[in-house]
Amino acid sequence: MGEGKNLVGVDIGTSGVKVCQVRESRKGLGLVRLGFVPLGPQVIVDGQVMDQGAVIEALQRVFSEAKIRQRECAISVSGQAVIIRKITVPMMTEAELNEQIQWEAEQHIPFDIKDVQVDYQVLRRRPEASQMDLLLVAAKRDQIEDYAQLARNAKLKPVVCDIDSFTVQNLFEYSRGLPQDQTIVLINVGASLSSLNIVSNGASAFTREIANGGNVITEEIQRQLSVPFDQAEAYKCGGDPSGPSGGMVPQQVVQIIEAVTDSIAAEIQRSIDFYMATSGEGEISRIYVTGGTANLAALGAAVQRRARVPVEAWAPTEKIFVEAREVDTTMLQSRAAQLAVALGLSLRREKETHS
Ligand SMILES: Nc1ncnc2c1ncn2[C@@H]1O[C@H](COP(=O)(O)OP(=O)(O)OP(=O)(O)O)[C@@H](O)[C@H]1O
Ligand SMILES: [Mg+2]
Repeated sequence: MGEGKNLVGVDIGTSGVKVCQVRESRKGLGLVRLGFVPLGPQVIVDGQVMDQGAVIEALQRVFSEAKIRQRECAISVSGQAVIIRKITVPMMTEAELNEQIQWEAEQHIPFDIKDVQVDYQVLRRRPEASQMDLLLVAAKRDQIEDYAQLARNAKLKPVVCDIDSFTVQNLFEYSRGLPQDQTIVLINVGASLSSLNIVSNGASAFTREIANGGNVITEEIQRQLSVPFDQAEAYKCGGDPSGPSGGMVPQQVVQIIEAVTDSIAAEIQRSIDFYMATSGEGEISRIYVTGGTANLAALGAAVQRRARVPVEAWAPTEKIFVEAREVDTTMLQSRAAQLAVALGLSLRREKETHS
């Protein structure tokens, strides 16, 4: 994946800022620092940063609380400002491709090419047809720039900017490997966004962002039960035993969780159906769910009911061991499902090479 030291993985998510720092050794990946600082419900809304000051403050706090001195970091963007297309180009060398990619992108991207940052990944070389398949990734420069600027304002040095779904895929590859003769689906369900990535024969073949996630559940609980955000969150996560409800969760909460997770599953299924219809691929062998909302068993159950494919809740931390006593292991356990992006980003190095 490159040379130089590992960057600090920084995930600016709707529910909070997550940071991970790892060190690779013969034993594998060791976690040396971990941090989480929550963001209030109005700071990032639907992927838009509404309160920059609060994000900058959270970034500074999370680095100081986690005792991270290194400033070089990897950040990521997600959401609707990213366009991903599988394209076919004539066989060429990496140098030629680097020169050509901008022009190729122009043919496939509906935005003004000046406004987007273009990157690619070689999916397959087909010398017999003198062609190669690429995954073209275009992210709107303003969103990348906004996030990089937030990091710089917090005195960080963003070196790499990735995309949530690829970050998750990189970590999954480290953790499980990517099956070479099967199609799997990686789903990350966070607070306001869900990302879906169909990985076919070891490479990403289709990605989509769905503007639905755990916050929709919380908001619905707030509305129907007339309770504040924090109380609704506590109900959703199983009822707070020390809270006024004494851990008892109203029946309505269970029904809301069922209804919203099913609506997320329905959108996921629509994307899978679309992919199957347009790609002519065979079948999906397994679906992996992660992200904070994957803590709800109802989510996996709903996806499995709709897709009729085995669903597994994948813990991004499964292959990571704790290497420093600065790591708060209680936080690591309770936040495990939320760490795929931050951990995936922490695999990135200062100097990258294209695959
Ligand atoms: N134990 C739990 N049970 C139910 N929901 C949970 C649990 N833990 C976290 N969540 C929910 O997961 C969401 C946060 O997950 P995550 O950290 O993956 O999202 P995010 O990265 O902050 O958001 P996004 O990616 O949408 O910007 C919140 O909606 C939170 O309520
Ligand atoms: Mg997220």
